[in-house]
Amino acid sequence: MSHKIIIAIDGYSSCGKSTLAKALAAQLEYVFIDTGAMYRAVALYFLRNNISFNDEQAIATALNHITLQFSYNATTLKSDMILNNENVEAEIREMAVSAKVSEVAAIGAVRDFAVAQQQAMGHKKGIVMDGRDIGTVVFPDAALKIFVTADPAIRVQRRFLELQLTNPAITKQEIAANLQHRDLLDTTRERSPLRQAADAKVLDNSNMNRDEQFELALQWAVEKIREANNN
Ligand code: DC
Repeated sequence: MSHKIIIAIDGYSSCGKSTLAKALAAQLEYVFIDTGAMYRAVALYFLRNNISFNDEQAIATALNHITLQFSYNATTLKSDMILNNENVEAEIREMAVSAKVSEVAAIGAVRDFAVAQQQAMGHKKGIVMDGRDIGTVVFPDAALKIFVTADPAIRVQRRFLELQLTNPAITKQEIAANLQHRDLLDTTRERSPLRQAADAKVLDNSNMNRDEQFELALQWAVEKIREANNN
């Protein structure tokens, strides 16, 4: 039987991490986990319930009332985020959540809450998980770590094309400001800042299409699975 491994994919916002992680998981018949969706769902709950990001007691109580689940959607071929039995997949991608999620993801109690669930999901291996701290904190022993980067202007353009479908009024300036803001908070926060793990393979996809980036990552994954089988 082929050994299953853990594949950790980290990188900046809107670099195509999820697209890559999803395609790899489908090809390898692994489970794909978008950890950003978990932080987004927590942020949505905090926004809806007016939880102050400085109020430790209110945060602890709120986290006790949050249940996060992924539910497979056969139309999009991806898992939707379920917050307390409600499908919030569309809402967590909106700008109102994007504008606040990095602040929420910087809260220690929120990270403890999310990381414990992520580690439990990796218990049986056979997962592709994308986020910011997967190779450094969640699974420091992951067999394959990929750090995805892309030119900032290209990231803005990709995100613009994606968001425009649901929000025709959105501007590139708005998106650029949001990405810069999130990059800054994600890389400078005290708890588990976004960092490239020392043993990560860097994938700069600025000049690659989806297929090219997929082929390269798949080659890395196949090598690592072969190594795991030989050990
Ligand atoms: O990948 P994303 O853009 O959906 O992530 C949303 C936010 O959550 C992002 O600003 C950083 C944060 N995040 C994190 O801190 N750690 C993770 N493992 C995943 C996301």
